[in-house]
Amino acid sequence: MYGNVCDVEKFEEFEIPIIEDCAQSIGATYNNHHVGLSGNSISCYSFYPSKTLGAMGDCGMIITKSKELSDKMKSIIDCGKSRNFIDFPMNARASNFQLIILLEKLNHLDDYLYSRNKIMKIYDDNLSFELFNQPKSFDRKGCSLYVYVICPKNSEYYKNKLDKANIGYGIHYPKSLVEHDIFSDYYNDNLRYSLEYPKRVISLPFYPEMDVDDVYKIIEVLND
Ligand SMILES: Cc1ncc(COP(=O)(O)O)c(C=O)c1O
Repeated sequence: MYGNVCDVEKFEEFEIPIIEDCAQSIGATYNNHHVGLSGNSISCYSFYPSKTLGAMGDCGMIITKSKELSDKMKSIIDCGKSRNFIDFPMNARASNFQLIILLEKLNHLDDYLYSRNKIMKIYDDNLSFELFNQPKSFDRKGCSLYVYVICPKNSEYYKNKLDKANIGYGIHYPKSLVEHDIFSDYYNDNLRYSLEYPKRVISLPFYPEMDVDDVYKIIEVLND
């Protein structure tokens, strides 16, 4: 999530199919290889325009090591043609226009990742401790941040500060899953923290072209 990396191998112990959501984590590494290459199932990437590697419209990619799944997915995205329409078909082919843009931007991916990591480090090193819900030394190993979030206890206070300084921010997930009607039956007490966190998490300005002076200005407003 946000480009942080979880311990994928722990899930592999369960021997269940794994669908890895790498929509926010392109460029992140796990055990010295890129995320998405560990599982034996499928890994999904998003190239939505705002993503770390963004097209100019909707686009995405699924990768797998399984020939069977690959053949099936190729058929599904192309109206089911190549498997005689036995699968649930859809028209989900990527547009050549988006792919040309992505291939060109792929040449710059390392630069985008470098700039994002530089900005992350400035935030990490300079934002005050209370703005996080965990020690500042959280493990950033292998991560490739797409969104930079803080999780202060009193988030309204910090949102007010940002508003007053005319600094934009985002609330990416205003509700936890169990607050949505279709998942509400799954609520149990173990999920109580999931109700609290959406109210606290704030996404700060974070993009590769960001002016470093602006990053320090935001830090100053928040730490003040
Ligand atoms: C974690 C995560 N998963 C899945 C998606 C869906 O990606 P797309 O909109 O390209 O289908 C997104 C996009 O925002 C995402 O952030």
